[in-house]
Amino acid sequence: MSKRIGILTSGGDCPGLNAIIRAAMKCASQKGWEVYGIPYGTEGFLRLENGKCHSEDLELKENGYDMPGFLHGIDILQFLSGSILGSLSKGNPGDPEIARTIIKGYGDLKLDALIAVGGDGSLDIIYDLAQQGNWNIVAIPKTIDNDVPFTERSIGFDTAVDKVTSALYDLTFTAASHDRTMIVEVMGRNAGHLALSSGIAGGADIILIPELIPKIEPNLITDICIHIAKLRSLGRKFALIVIAEGIKNDTGERQKNIADYLSQQIDRVSHELCLTNKPEFCDLDKIETRATVLGHIQRSGMPSSYDRLLAATFAKKAVDLIAAEKYNQLVVWQNGEVQIQPLDKVVSHIKQRHQLGICPSPVDTNGFLVQTARSLGIYLGFKSF
Ligand code: F6P
Repeated sequence: MSKRIGILTSGGDCPGLNAIIRAAMKCASQKGWEVYGIPYGTEGFLRLENGKCHSEDLELKENGYDMPGFLHGIDILQFLSGSILGSLSKGNPGDPEIARTIIKGYGDLKLDALIAVGGDGSLDIIYDLAQQGNWNIVAIPKTIDNDVPFTERSIGFDTAVDKVTSALYDLTFTAASHDRTMIVEVMGRNAGHLALSSGIAGGADIILIPELIPKIEPNLITDICIHIAKLRSLGRKFALIVIAEGIKNDTGERQKNIADYLSQQIDRVSHELCLTNKPEFCDLDKIETRATVLGHIQRSGMPSSYDRLLAATFAKKAVDLIAAEKYNQLVVWQNGEVQIQPLDKVVSHIKQRHQLGICPSPVDTNGFLVQTARSLGIYLGFKSF
């Protein structure tokens, strides 16, 4: 049966969104369905005129994004970062009147179903709207933070890990040339997945994630300096520290530029340790620290092949679910394959965690990645953890 489906991307962008849009478009076109792009997440439903979005571009076609001239025929979409549909990370519509207009927009567009691509925050909001409006939705997880529950992978994470790993590679050589300690601040909101994975892959000496180190206490700085002193005594005169942005300062508050904060603390404490005149610390006065905040670079770049593959499989599953009229599902990656999880279960878990102010899917502190980091001699925080 022919269908008219919508697709939207919501929340912070990440590499791989266009790959999802392209794959969904292709899978749906094979079935003879119409695919309609909703601009700026659910906000697009507020911008309809006579039951249509302004731009004809949003009536997505299988070959609608060809390159000009002799490059005609190149299917570029899957390689492009960002979202051709735009995205919004503004949060809940709040005002019930606005929510009603959004809900009505779905009906005005005469959609049979909607593919919603979002992270934990947007899935929560979209699911509520879908419930109120009786929308037929299927969701796909995306975020460089990899903190959507019940999926081992979200679109965008793999590319972000590559980005950070490549930055660590670049920083290694300048660090080594000047015997410096490089502190690299990595995104992830309240989760440490990106810091942990890229820190291991990028050869970090120290990885600090909020699941193990919620805040930077004075003892931690001393431990870090001792670890650096040990590395220096073994001949590694430089060090790479990866710190997740979700770590709080010593008073437990979120600190803008936590890498810089840590850098200042290390400078101070290493100098104090040196003044103790203990031979193992006498070299510490020579350490120089530099902080790098990678920022939104982590949200861009050509999506990795793994993210593109994941995007293709997730989109196919979403289209299959719509064909089977099995709605209110989140497409997930579990045990090496694409599976589904009921959205009510996923969203109630997210809501519960958000109410407690904690990450919906944090790093497993006893998991194999944490164990691997420790086995490699990477310092993850106090010994007691
Ligand atoms: O959730 C993705 C993310 O990139 C986080 O890692 C980061 O904390 C946040 O979004 C940044 O948000 P914004 O783009 O609104 O500054």
